[in-house]
Amino acid sequence: MANNLLAGKRGVIFGALDEASIAWKVAERCHEEGAKITLTNAPVAMRFGKIQKLGEKVNAEIIPADATSLEDLENLFTKSTEILGGKIDFVLHSIGMSLNVRKGRAYDNIKYDWMQKTFDISAISFHKVMQTLHKLDAISDWGSVLALTYIAAQRTFPDYNEMAESKALLESFARSFGYHLGVQKHVRVNTISQSPTMTTAGSGIKGFQEFFNYADKMSPLGNAPAEACADYCITMFSDLTRYVTMQNLYHDGGFSNMGMSPALLPDTEEEA
Ligand SMILES: NC(=O)c1ccc[n+]([C@@H]2O[C@H](COP(=O)([O-])OP(=O)(O)OC[C@H]3O[C@@H](n4cnc5c(N)ncnc54)[C@H](O)[C@@H]3O)[C@@H](O)[C@H]2O)c1
Repeated sequence: MANNLLAGKRGVIFGALDEASIAWKVAERCHEEGAKITLTNAPVAMRFGKIQKLGEKVNAEIIPADATSLEDLENLFTKSTEILGGKIDFVLHSIGMSLNVRKGRAYDNIKYDWMQKTFDISAISFHKVMQTLHKLDAISDWGSVLALTYIAAQRTFPDYNEMAESKALLESFARSFGYHLGVQKHVRVNTISQSPTMTTAGSGIKGFQEFFNYADKMSPLGNAPAEACADYCITMFSDLTRYVTMQNLYHDGGFSNMGMSPALLPDTEEEA
């Protein structure tokens, strides 16, 4: 259901790789709600992903950018303001990648140059995005910047590996830059901490399907699907949330506040 919540707004969406990507659903919902957007992803994703198809669907130009490259980010935001006809009102950072996870290195056998690359891609890129927007004066007054994160920043999930520290850093950047962009431009910066979701990045984690099922049972509302995450992102981009900033917002069906759930105790279930 569309409510024109983003009518007249201009946005940049990072990280749509294929139909399963959370950013893909967000781009679709932005379009439905009346926003004009540009799409971006790493140059390599242009070859392997399906972003062209999404571009046609939501009438968006695609501007390749490696989110770790300041030069690429400058080009992205300069071109986006030209194409969209003004400053950017909202940005979604939906980027995550760990070489140690991808290559199956355990947490106690990390390769440190890979770890640094993980931090650069998954967290420092968020600082780079905000600093570039700020330096180019490319973000509108009362704009909204969002990044997607995971609760492994606060609690231990052993197979999430160094992505846990990456997300902790990402969330800290949201708070710190949220201050600077807030006082200078009334721009809000938040992270949304999403349930496990079946995507390329998600399913790269060891034992993901089993963990997905566990979290689904632990959460009173069940795991939040990607479509619902997109709805939440839309509200955060809209003018209805103008005073929410520097927050880590859980979008997880209640998982983050659970201790135990009878749903995970087979004996209790049988007696009930
Ligand atoms: N899937 C989950 O279970 C889950 C849960 C909570 C949070 N998240 C977060 O949601 C975000 C989106 O992930 P997703 O689950 O939709 O998976 P996804 O694999 O569809 O998206 C990850 C994206 O990051 C992009 N990317 C990687 N390196 C990049 C670079 N150098 N420059 C620019 N883009 C780059 C990829 O091309 C891809 O589009 C990530 O931050 C992820 O950590 C995912």
